[in-house]
Amino acid sequence: MGRDDQWLDVIVVGGGIAGMAYATQLVEQAGFARPEPLRRRSARPVRVRIIAKEAVSGSNSFAAQGGMAAVLHPADSTASHVRDTLTVGEGRNDPAVVRRVVREGPAMVRALTGMGAVFDADATGRIALAREGGHTIARVVHHLDRTGAEIVRVLQERVRASPCITVIDEQAVDLLVDGGRCIGVRTRDPLTGIWTDRFAHVVVLATGGAGQVYLHTTNPPGATGDGIAMAARAGVPLKDMAFVQFHPTALYTGGTGTAFLISEAVRGAGAVLLRADGRPLMAGVHPQGDLAPRNVVARTIARVMARSRVPHVWLDTSPIGAERFAREFPAINAHCLEQGITPGRDRIPVMPAAHYLCGGIRTDGTGRTTLKGLLALGECACSGLHGADRLASNSLLEALVIPRHAAAHTLRTASKRVPGADRPVGEQAVPGKDHHTSVDHDAVMDALRRTMTRHAGILRSEHGLHQALRRIERAGMDAERAWAQGDRSAGMIALRNMVAVSRSIVLAALAEPFSAGTHWVSGVRG
Ligand code: SIN
Repeated sequence: MGRDDQWLDVIVVGGGIAGMAYATQLVEQAGFARPEPLRRRSARPVRVRIIAKEAVSGSNSFAAQGGMAAVLHPADSTASHVRDTLTVGEGRNDPAVVRRVVREGPAMVRALTGMGAVFDADATGRIALAREGGHTIARVVHHLDRTGAEIVRVLQERVRASPCITVIDEQAVDLLVDGGRCIGVRTRDPLTGIWTDRFAHVVVLATGGAGQVYLHTTNPPGATGDGIAMAARAGVPLKDMAFVQFHPTALYTGGTGTAFLISEAVRGAGAVLLRADGRPLMAGVHPQGDLAPRNVVARTIARVMARSRVPHVWLDTSPIGAERFAREFPAINAHCLEQGITPGRDRIPVMPAAHYLCGGIRTDGTGRTTLKGLLALGECACSGLHGADRLASNSLLEALVIPRHAAAHTLRTASKRVPGADRPVGEQAVPGKDHHTSVDHDAVMDALRRTMTRHAGILRSEHGLHQALRRIERAGMDAERAWAQGDRSAGMIALRNMVAVSRSIVLAALAEPFSAGTHWVSGVRG
């Protein structure tokens, strides 16, 4: 390998599919995944550090059940997939990005298969395609109800096998910016509490979503909007933050926090939403019925729940039958059985839950943000693919296609400036102990989640959004006080990020002149 100043040093924050896809693509495109004699002579050696606060099994990517949309059906076309994406996004998408991502879907499926990913096949041996909300044809490639985990498996094998990629188990705290350029990341070691400034030529944020700012979410506990908050603090513009997608069918248990997802593919297989009195919920609401765009289904359920004062509606899975359900949806089946529900026979109690942030850090179709040296990928980014609502199963596709372009862009343009050497910046918190201040994080987080759910969730009003903003500012003051009193714990870092993301969502919602997609304001026309 070359002299130290020839290295291209990259930090990826987030170890989910987008982060791993970028890291592996970068190494491959630089030629370093090939045996020595086949490498490009001119290639600059790359060194990628993936900073992940959690194991990949705790990521949204891993939890993705449904699958990845791609044009593979003989009766399907790129034009149709593009049209469905724009229809669900209500034209708020960037059409060039939509075309790029959709066009590359089939090749991406082939690439994953070539890497060893196994997707379900039909009786003829062709890839089986499921249907989900907003799609006018079956085009969702899946691995049972564990598609994310399957894609994670093959990417993780590559990450582990690459001597150029290291995974560091730390929490990113803030971006390091100097001279108008992102030069690294400040991190916190969860075991020692020690902070380190880590430097790189390029920093990539791939931190996932922010579902934890709501009371019910399908996202894992780590989805606290870290990358978005870090970018916002560094003055990097966000986009479309008003558009938060709620999945219509999370399992209702009576609890709060992370809720188990009942994949839309279950409705694709024939399950039907019912009101408390057993009447079909989506009848006459939308021509696509139970498979209407998610914002339509979630809003209908939210209205029914509010009017009837019930905490959930029902998903009738009897059209699928217990045997087929267990075969096609083994993970959902096992989870429901643990709860005493037999899918395919019993009705499943479901409710909407925050699922996907359509907005995020503003990027182009190669992951570039407005800050030099900083890229953003996956759910924390807003590439323009989704618009005002995301077409089901487009996000895994985006998380694989855009990183490929981002890696090529990095190799073409990365700064040659020598990054600084990593240096510890001191122990900021006592690990394993609560750093006592007068602020109780959990209570502030809970109040924030209740506010966001009540006023900035599925059904919004201008008055409610203003009220939310006032309460977020109060939570922000509590967080700042604790920070000033020296609380640098993991919980405090998460709370600070959740406040920043909540504020961005509410401010963006107040700035939207029309109701569109997932952003619906009472009395404001669409
Ligand atoms: C699902 O399986 O319903 C989720 C898929 C997605 O969010 O794209």
